Amino acid sequence: MAPLLELSGISKAFGGAVALRGIDFVLEPGEIHGLVGENGAGKSTLMKIIAGVHHGFGGTMRMGGQPVRFASPADALAAGIGMVHQELSAVGSLTVAENVYLGVQPTNRFGLVDWKAMLRGARAQLDSLGIDVDPRAEMGSLSLGVQQLIELSRVLFSGARIIILDEPTSALSPPEVERLFGVLRRLRDDGRSLIFISHFLDDVLAICDRVTVFRNGSKVAEAAAAEVDKHWLIDRMIGGAHGEISGGYTGEVVLDSRPEAAVVLATEGLGRTGAYQDISLRVRAGEVLGIYGYLGAGQLDLARALFGKVPAQRGRISIDGRQVALTSTARARAAGMAFVPESRRSMLFAQEPVFKNISISILRRIARLLLRPAAERAIAERHAASLNIRPPQVDRPLGSLSGGNQQKVALARWLTHLPRVLVLSEPTRGMDVGAKDDVVRIIRALRAHGIGIIVVSAEPETVLSLADRILVMKKGRVVHEFAGVAVSKDRLLAAA
Ligand SMILES: Nc1ncnc2c1ncn2[C@@H]1O[C@H](COP(=O)(O)OP(=O)(O)O)[C@@H](O)[C@H]1O
Ligand SMILES: [Mg+2]
Repeated sequence: MAPLLELSGISKAFGGAVALRGIDFVLEPGEIHGLVGENGAGKSTLMKIIAGVHHGFGGTMRMGGQPVRFASPADALAAGIGMVHQELSAVGSLTVAENVYLGVQPTNRFGLVDWKAMLRGARAQLDSLGIDVDPRAEMGSLSLGVQQLIELSRVLFSGARIIILDEPTSALSPPEVERLFGVLRRLRDDGRSLIFISHFLDDVLAICDRVTVFRNGSKVAEAAAAEVDKHWLIDRMIGGAHGEISGGYTGEVVLDSRPEAAVVLATEGLGRTGAYQDISLRVRAGEVLGIYGYLGAGQLDLARALFGKVPAQRGRISIDGRQVALTSTARARAAGMAFVPESRRSMLFAQEPVFKNISISILRRIARLLLRPAAERAIAERHAASLNIRPPQVDRPLGSLSGGNQQKVALARWLTHLPRVLVLSEPTRGMDVGAKDDVVRIIRALRAHGIGIIVVSAEPETVLSLADRILVMKKGRVVHEFAGVAVSKDRLLAAA
C-alpha cells in the first residue's frame, strides 16, 4: 500500500542559498516521527513545504500514492495536513476561543458565528490539554506557555490526519509538556500521524516511534527511536567533525575556571514556578560563566530574574557578599547588575544617534559633571573606534547600523560605566563572523576589568567561545557543570 505521505528528492533554495538537498521522507499512518538537527539544518523548511507554505521546490510529494502540490496552508489543511509553527501566530487581541477557531468558526443556520458552540468547543479542547483559562479571555493577556498550548490545540483538534509540530515545547513548563505528550499519544493511537521537531532529544526519543536526522540541508539518518540513543543522534546531527564549527573555536575548549577570585554574584535556591528551580550559582570577578540550555530550559527566565525584570519567587541573591532584593530593574541596576537582553531593540533607541545610545548609562554622571554634548560625543567616539563600530560616525541614527554593530553599542554602554555583574543573553546571535569576533573581544575587555559576566545562550558555540565555566540547564534546573576541563560540543549537547 502507498504510504500516507511520501516525499522524494525534495530540494529548496532561497536565492542562492540551498536549504534542502534531495530529501526522501515517508510518513506512515499512526506514527510519531521525530525530526532533529541543528539550527538551520532545514527542518522547518521541509515542514513548510509539506504544509503548503512554500510552493517553489524541486522533487515530488505524494499522499496515498497520488502526487499533490499545495497552493496554500488552507489547501494543505483541506487535504488533512495541519502545522503548528515555531513562531507563535496567535492573535493577541482576539479571545482564546476565537484563536482556537481561527479561520474555522462554527456558524449557526443564519450563517452567523455561533458563539455558544465556539465557547463550548474551546472549553472542551482546552480541558483535554489541562489548560485552565476562560475561553473569553484575551489571548495577549496569557503567558507564552498557555498561548503555545492554545495554538497547539487549534491544530491538534482540527481533524487533520497529519499534524506537524515545529518545536512546540519551547515555552512550555514540564507538566504542560507531559499533558501535551499525553494528547499526542492519544492522537497517534487514534491513527493520526505526527511529525515532532524538537531540540530536546530525550523527549524525541521518549515520544517518537521513528526519528530522522537532518544536517546542513540533507537527511543523514533515520532509525526506529527504540534502537538508538541520544549520543547516536548527536553524532549524526553534528557529523564526524565535532570541532569544525565556524566562527568561534576549533576542537575542544579548555575551560579555565578561577576559584581564587572573589565571588561577585551568588544565588541560593532561586526558584520561580514553571520557569526554574533550585538555582544556586556563583560568578567570580573576572569570570565569564556560560549558562547553556535549549530554548525553554529556563535560562532566559533566570537571566530576567537577575536583572529584576521578572523576580524570582524563592531563594536569595547576593552581590559582593551582601544580600540584595532584585525586585525591579531599577533596584537591580542600583545593586550593580547590568543586562543586555536577546532583543537588543528593547533597550536601544534606534532613532537616536549612536553617541546618545552609548552615553545613556552615564547620563547622570554627565549631568553631574555638566558635560556638554561635545564631551558626550567625544567619549562615544573613543569607544566607537576602540570597539570597531562600523561605520564609525557616532552621529548616525543607531537604527542604520547592522545588528552586530548595534550589539557593540549596547555593550559599549557598559564599558563607560562598569557594573559589578553583566548578564548577556544570546550576545552573538545572528551575527557574521567578523562582528562575532568583535563582540567576543569586547566581552573579554569587560572581563579584564574584573566584572563578573554571565552569558546565557541556546547556541553551544556561543558559550564554548566565551565561557570560563559552563552550567547546563534543563527543564528549569542546573543539571551539569563543566569547570577546569576540556569540553567539546558533543559533550555539551549530551548534557542538555
Ligand atoms: N524564508 C527564508 N528565506 C531565506 N532563507 C531561509 C528562509 N527560511 C529558511 N532559510 C534558510 O534555510 C536554511 C534552513 O532553515 P530552517 O529550515 O529554518 O532550519 P531549521 O528549522 O532546521 O533550524 C537556513 O540556512 C535558513 O537561514
Ligand atoms: Mg526550525
